[in-house]
Amino acid sequence: MTQDELKTLVGHAALYYVEADSIVGVGTGSTVNKFIDALAAMKDRIAGAVSSSVASTERLQALGIRVFDTTEVDELAVYIDGADEIDHAGYMIKGGGAALTREKIVAAQSRQFVCIADESKYVATLGCFPLPVEVIPMAARRIARQFAALGGTATVRLKDGVPLVTDNGQQILDVTGLKISHPLAFESQVSQWPGVVTVGVFAFQKANVCLLGTPDGVKTLAF
Ligand code: 5RP
Repeated sequence: MTQDELKTLVGHAALYYVEADSIVGVGTGSTVNKFIDALAAMKDRIAGAVSSSVASTERLQALGIRVFDTTEVDELAVYIDGADEIDHAGYMIKGGGAALTREKIVAAQSRQFVCIADESKYVATLGCFPLPVEVIPMAARRIARQFAALGGTATVRLKDGVPLVTDNGQQILDVTGLKISHPLAFESQVSQWPGVVTVGVFAFQKANVCLLGTPDGVKTLAF
């Protein structure tokens, strides 16, 4: 099976977690796009969605799914999103699609985080994937030096040759060379650095369930 087919598989499997008449939290990325496309088939049985990015909002609306603002909803039963890496405890690296800040906000508003991923994302220790960190641009150079002190190398993410601008008007640093053995402590530490908007380690907002796409089918991991 190709990676794309595995993404389709888990995108469909995630429908099981969507409750009738509910508002569902929707993440961002190519795997979530498969989920959104599958969700369209049951759009008349849900109230709508809360979205974590402009891209997902546009896709949901194009399929006729109502998108609520986060401020219109107190709590979501479930948040469905992908990951760049997920470890054996459900801790994740996210932000490959630059949507990490809104993803963490919607995840924090949800009772259950269901991660959908192909098996290439399942790792023993976080850190092979370059860690995305959304930063206020005036702090980017100093934050890069702080990562250097931890042994990492931070690079400003570019799009079309210029720094990518997130949905929140900020920049992304991608940090290589880190081995994140203690995700909770790492997330706590980096979140306190002035100018860090969001670090792409999702330890406090970890996954409760992971639907992992494998050639043998979908494996359900509960954490
Ligand atoms: C976007 C994310 C995505 O969930 C993550 O990058 C995985 O994306 P994909 O499903 O395309 O592999 O965190 O900010």
